[in-house]
Amino acid sequence: MKISSFDEYKQVYQQSIEQPEQFWEGIAENFYWRKKWDKVLEWNFKEPRVKWFQGAKLNITENCLDRHLETLGDKPAIIWEPNDPQENHRILTYKQLHDKVCQFANVLKNNGAQKGDRICVYMPMVPELAIAILACARIGAIHSVVFGGFSAQSIADRINDASCKLVITADGSFRGNKPIKLKEIIDDALVQCPSVEKVIVLTRSRTPVSMIKGRDLWWEDEIKRVETQGSVDCPAEEMDAEDMLFILYTSGSTGKPKGVVHTCGGYMVYAGYTFTNVFQYNPGEVYFCTADIGWITGHSYIAYGPLSQGATTVMFEGIPSWPTPGRFWDIVEKYKVNILYTAPTAIRSLMSFGDEALQGKDFSSLKKLGSVGEPINEEAWHWFDEKIGQGRCPIVDTWWQTETGGIMISPLAGLTPTKPGYATLPLPGIQPVLVDENGKEIEGNGTSGNLCIKFPWPGMLRTTYGDHERCRTTYFATYHDMYFTGDGCLRDKDGYYRITGRVDDVLNVSGHRIGTAEVENAINMHSSVVESAVVGYPHDIKGQGIYAFVISPNHHGDEELARKDIMMTVQRIIGAIAKPDKIQFVSGLPKTRSGKIMRRILRKIAEGDTSNLGDTSTLLDPAVVDEIKAGAL
Ligand code: PRX
Repeated sequence: MKISSFDEYKQVYQQSIEQPEQFWEGIAENFYWRKKWDKVLEWNFKEPRVKWFQGAKLNITENCLDRHLETLGDKPAIIWEPNDPQENHRILTYKQLHDKVCQFANVLKNNGAQKGDRICVYMPMVPELAIAILACARIGAIHSVVFGGFSAQSIADRINDASCKLVITADGSFRGNKPIKLKEIIDDALVQCPSVEKVIVLTRSRTPVSMIKGRDLWWEDEIKRVETQGSVDCPAEEMDAEDMLFILYTSGSTGKPKGVVHTCGGYMVYAGYTFTNVFQYNPGEVYFCTADIGWITGHSYIAYGPLSQGATTVMFEGIPSWPTPGRFWDIVEKYKVNILYTAPTAIRSLMSFGDEALQGKDFSSLKKLGSVGEPINEEAWHWFDEKIGQGRCPIVDTWWQTETGGIMISPLAGLTPTKPGYATLPLPGIQPVLVDENGKEIEGNGTSGNLCIKFPWPGMLRTTYGDHERCRTTYFATYHDMYFTGDGCLRDKDGYYRITGRVDDVLNVSGHRIGTAEVENAINMHSSVVESAVVGYPHDIKGQGIYAFVISPNHHGDEELARKDIMMTVQRIIGAIAKPDKIQFVSGLPKTRSGKIMRRILRKIAEGDTSNLGDTSTLLDPAVVDEIKAGAL
């Protein structure tokens, strides 16, 4: 299923559009199914109702583990690099990973987990995180991984939305020199979560934790219990292709984060197919994706994609800048990494340390580079190309989303001619279209519009957990018969796609997706805040920074302290990742007569571009704009 030239890409792309079902059937043949499908695809985007490989039976872990045992059993599946470079690294072969997944799957069963149960996973980036999600998949439980940077309140919201029965966590974790008390945060969350029966706690940092009798169990004790039962193996549960595999919460322009649902068959096919083709993975290559499994990139391209293809995947617990800003490059050298997949924000932050951090590092093992999460600026692209790839490694700028399950628009490494800042061309099977505000398809090249996808692909979301109507209105109701991505895009004269950023009220801060409404809600929870409006502004390292305009007449004359209080409130409600970079106190917000905040104006002020604010005549009180302009930070 690996395309091997640009000409072949063009030919396969054409076929995939003319006969999509045949195309995907051919891709799906490369996986192990207990029973093949009766029908490749059934769909309508109206409800939406999308079913891939109907009637097929499988378990994704048999594809990620069991089927490799004979040929790759002794080969490394996961190479783990700890936060502290002084600590020992770990290598798990496919055989070892298989056994550990089976063992932990039995732990889950011993604790009452069954097919269809939801299990929340809140863990550091250690191999046990991968083991935990694979163990869930093994028994047919649905995992919902929550990124370690989210607050107790965010976790509680996610646990309650999915009525999770179990939580898997660790005592604590390390990120650089910062300890994070994961179990304590879980304890705070669980005060509000009646559905949770058991909490399994991995020993990682040995920070003191409370362990509640009857509810909290140590991971290690539970493994011992399984060992004494003598039942190491755990037969994989037979899943329907359309059974849920996992839920992953992501932010939108309104309301609380929604639980994007991916299913067993289609997601597996899509993650595996895109991994092999985009990275042009060759057996034996060492692949390092720097994301966290708490985000979709980690699900698809640390865990399921690479493992389904028998690859060696590097997992890193720490951060790029600790203990030195050369940490990524040390890892590349240590494990002779061939493929490095990272984010523009990481590239920009490492660029800012200057060339000294690159001195003496050996980049010679690298063959291919990748970028994901936000538009990559040309300066960062060239630095990545010249300094890291040393001019000899193709860069794949991969565009996709939590909802798409896998990469959608991207070069195939070394095959597709690249252009800095361009995600280039759609993968075979993907049919992007640009539409104008009226939903009319914009044909031809040299155009721009809103990016939609007009035909289903196996990795697409099926629903938003517990609220199908929300899935319909968010993604399928804006434009007739299309999936709307929320991104703006241009297509150049060669038909190459360049993603220009979100066209809705979603921010992308250091590659983290955050809704402005969510941040506003959190700020408004602060007792002295009357109202707020949040917009993004260009930030050198983060891509976008968070700028909050806040009405808070009663902050006792100490603005600095009031700002800190608001930051604390946001940190408590959402997590540190959503803390505003700038808070400007204002006496009013620019509103239309109907009460709608004119964000366009605030965005311009936040960007520092106040020369032309456009038409302000429809504002209720135009004078407020002058005041905000004068006080801009
Ligand atoms: O705006 C696009 C941006 O990230 C959004 C998706 O965020 P999330 O669901 O968190 O997934 C991130 C990892 C796939 C998109 O709507 N985005 C992602 N990749 C790119 C990008 N923008 C430009 N270029 C990319 N390569």
